[in-house]
Amino acid sequence: KKVVLAFSGGLDTSVILKWLQDTYQCEIVTFTADIGQGEEVEPARVKAKQLGVKEIYIEDLREEFVRDFVFPMFRANAIYEGEYLLGTSIARPLIAKRQIEIVKETEADAVSHGATGKGNDQVRFELGYYALKPDICVIAPWREWDLTSREKLVQYAERHGIPVEMKKKTGSPYSMDANLLHISYEGRMLEDPAKEPEESMWRWSVSPENAPDKAEYLDLEYQRGDVVALNGEKLSPANVLAKLNQLGGKHGIGRLDLVENRYVGMKSRGCYETPGGAILLRAHRAIESITLDREVAHLKDELMPRYATLIYNGYWWSPERELMQTMIDASQVNVNGWVRVKLYKGNIIVVGRESQTHSLFNADIATFEEDKGAYNQVDAVGFIKLNALRMRIAAGIAEKNK
Ligand code: ARG
Ligand code: SIN
Repeated sequence: KKVVLAFSGGLDTSVILKWLQDTYQCEIVTFTADIGQGEEVEPARVKAKQLGVKEIYIEDLREEFVRDFVFPMFRANAIYEGEYLLGTSIARPLIAKRQIEIVKETEADAVSHGATGKGNDQVRFELGYYALKPDICVIAPWREWDLTSREKLVQYAERHGIPVEMKKKTGSPYSMDANLLHISYEGRMLEDPAKEPEESMWRWSVSPENAPDKAEYLDLEYQRGDVVALNGEKLSPANVLAKLNQLGGKHGIGRLDLVENRYVGMKSRGCYETPGGAILLRAHRAIESITLDREVAHLKDELMPRYATLIYNGYWWSPERELMQTMIDASQVNVNGWVRVKLYKGNIIVVGRESQTHSLFNADIATFEEDKGAYNQVDAVGFIKLNALRMRIAAGIAEKNK
């Protein structure tokens, strides 16, 4: 047996690695990806080697992550339950895809991950695995072993010579997950949703109170619904997001504190920082506001919660997500132009938008001044009367029956 393990190099996945070797007598292939979590990935090589791993994959997937996952999702203006920008949800399908590709490259028969048996991540990983390789064998140690507490995990590590200082690697008590789109915090003090998180928890942004007193302007240039330049400078997708995170973080933008419904049934309190994503969402709606037809925009808005839920629940690789994506992408052909926003103490204020080539905004028609005959006010009489017809009939009947 050969198992491809999604390996961060941290304590949990190091214990998993050892446990898999001991329990299944199998060969392990490790896969570690840089998706912008802000931690070195090379140390994972040293750790994997120490644990006797021969096939070690370490890859920089930042561009692919933003280009093929984050940007397509933002074309839909996706938000789960009105607030969550899906930072963790959108990264799992990419990890799953690469793991399955590595299974094929190394002729392995199984995959393994470090998600607990209580959350969404296990579902997202495994739906991805099965969608991409229907006969894959999945091993989820958290659902199998008896290391049911943090304490037992640390003991197991000590017993097997896995350096335990790793557990202090992050220096944070929270369960965290980070990539170019967001950083998340769950567990510990956050498990009481009535309590405000301590200021020191937040890592990517200053608080709005501590943000600069001077607003900062930012121009975003769009092609087919994607940002291609910031302040006139062409940037790759990953660089766009990295830059927006830096600017947003500086201005106290993108903090969220919410209770969400996990797919597995429980409510969970989470805190998130999504500075760049928050700017992307606001600005994208602004460029769509002048380039999308009304009914197209409204249809997108109706489908958006469905699309967001699909991603949250782990159905990225499903036929219905792909179908919706085709429609969403087609809607973006005319979404070209620029948007100007002002960043100020936690706020993203849209102050301008323009599309030289595709604006549907027509000042001649919309003007409050005398228009040039494009819109005939008299037409509105019949428009309103016919739309009122059924209400007038109903009101007449109600009157008669009084
Ligand atoms: N609750 C969020 C989600 O389901 C974040 C999950 C974070 N995952 C983690 N392994 N720490 O998308
Ligand atoms: C986990 O259970 O591994 C993290 C939380 C989640 O997946 O929702």
